[in-house]
Amino acid sequence: MDLRRVTGLVALALALWLALALLNHPAPAAPPVNFDSSNRCAECHPAVFDEWKSSWHARSWDDPDVRALSNDFANTDCIDCHAPRPVFSTGVGKRVLPRAARRSEGVDCIACHLIRDADTGAPGVAGTIDRPGAACRPRAMLDLQRPDYCGVCHDQHKTVRQWRASSWAERGIGCIDCHMPLRNDDPNQGRDHSCRGGHDLELVRSAVELRGKRDPQNPLNWVLEVENVGAGHHFPTDERSRAADLFWRPLVAVGATNADDAQPGPWRHLYRFRDPYRHETDIPATHLAAGETRRVSLGEEEARAGAEVALFYKLTPYYENPDHPDPEREARLVHSLTLKP
Ligand code: HEC
Ligand code: HEC
Ligand code: HEC
Ligand code: HEC
Ligand code: HEC
Repeated sequence: MDLRRVTGLVALALALWLALALLNHPAPAAPPVNFDSSNRCAECHPAVFDEWKSSWHARSWDDPDVRALSNDFANTDCIDCHAPRPVFSTGVGKRVLPRAARRSEGVDCIACHLIRDADTGAPGVAGTIDRPGAACRPRAMLDLQRPDYCGVCHDQHKTVRQWRASSWAERGIGCIDCHMPLRNDDPNQGRDHSCRGGHDLELVRSAVELRGKRDPQNPLNWVLEVENVGAGHHFPTDERSRAADLFWRPLVAVGATNADDAQPGPWRHLYRFRDPYRHETDIPATHLAAGETRRVSLGEEEARAGAEVALFYKLTPYYENPDHPDPEREARLVHSLTLKP
């Protein structure tokens, strides 16, 4: 064997030994995170933290509407989901339980991500990757992507069941695809944690289409159509206080000489989409299933020559003066259209 070959083999052996040594001694693990507050996560995940801070999850303990309805959480039943223990401690598929500490952080990073090692009890986080050396000890957990995970808090009014019965479920488009979309459509940039919902008018606009035409059965009347094209569940869904109302008013007469005829006049109520509170047994459930189209006829004589029609969305159910509702002040305009002969 010549000398060059021997040197080559020795070099190869050395390289192998070095590689093995490196494999056996990976980069030292970062000191573990102290899981006593979600503020700890801000240091290393500032972008996610800012999005979450802007979400209603972060406000679920301080939200003035929740405070008012729960009598400042004197009704302790309300603490369960508004300041919950970690989802993975109660388990996906089970309703969450209330926690005693750091309630002001609401539905926070720790509630959604904290997991514990089955053998040692050491804390870590549920994520999409295994990184045993990272400070928060992330582990890949498929459960994090499942609608049943959101359902531990979001199925008391059947939102997950509505989704499961929809074509979105068949197509595999789940809660996070619409409410936590990929940042910049890039699978490597993670998901938007601002979790937009009914408070976001743009999202509400994307849920439904409003159309109107002459009624083929009775050409003096109009028929309006509202179609749920973009919500992966009923519209509205979850919180039973949410309502969407169709209003109309006669078109202002062209060339009107009378001052009254030149004003659009007040909006008149026509139809409501809502899942009523349990005690409102006299009100039918009229929320619109995913993919469903509701037809509402408008046959008032004053509408025959033309009308303005509008769909308004309301976060709280009742108008101050039910006989003279003022949707422009008390609700938010979703879509409108003009019906002209
Ligand atoms: C000292 C820095 C540090 C702190 C503090 C920290 N993390 Fe992490 N975290 C990391 C690093 C590093 C990774 C791995 C990122 C990678 O390799 O892409 C990570 C990954 C994650 C992942 C998985 C990411 C994925 O792509 O699936 C989650 C979830 C996560 N962290 C949540 C948290 C939460 C919740 C907290 C607060 C309790 C927290 N982290 C605190 C450094 C930190
Ligand atoms: C099973 C979990 C759960 C329990 C228990 C619960 N909530 Fe909620 N709450 C939610 C979820 C989820 C939402 C968000 C739903 C939505 O936006 O439609 C919410 C939203 C709300 C809102 C609307 C907040 C807003 O900004 O518009 C109010 C008000 C509210 N809850 C009050 C209460 C009160 C009062 C109680 C106790 C009687 C209570 N909640 C108990 C899960 C729960
Ligand atoms: C309502 C539950 C919920 C809350 C609150 C929440 N997360 Fe997440 N987080 C998720 C889900 C769901 C995913 C996406 C999992 C997937 O893509 O499979 C995720 C993904 C992540 C990831 C992976 C990378 C990315 O950006 O998507 C990190 C890191 C992370 N969360 C950190 C945090 C931190 C830090 C906080 C608090 C500031 C937080 N999360 C709050 C549910 C939550
Ligand atoms: C631990 C309980 C819990 C979990 C898990 C949870 N949420 Fe929530 N979510 C809430 C509560 C409570 C609110 C209402 C906060 C408020 O307005 O006071 C809420 C509000 C919302 C809203 C409404 C925002 C708005 O504009 O009113 C959306 C959308 C939402 N969550 C989506 C999700 C999705 C998607 C998941 C699953 C990835 C999820 N949530 C997981 C408790 C939870
Ligand atoms: C195809 C997209 C899509 C999917 C899938 C989807 N949503 Fe929505 N979601 C919407 C749209 C659009 C709205 C606004 C209109 C409405 O309230 O129905 C909304 C509204 C909401 C709200 C706010 C209701 C309120 O009162 O403020 C909650 C909570 C919610 N979704 C939870 C979920 C959960 C939980 C899942 C999974 C089971 C889910 N969504 C799946 C599109 C989607």
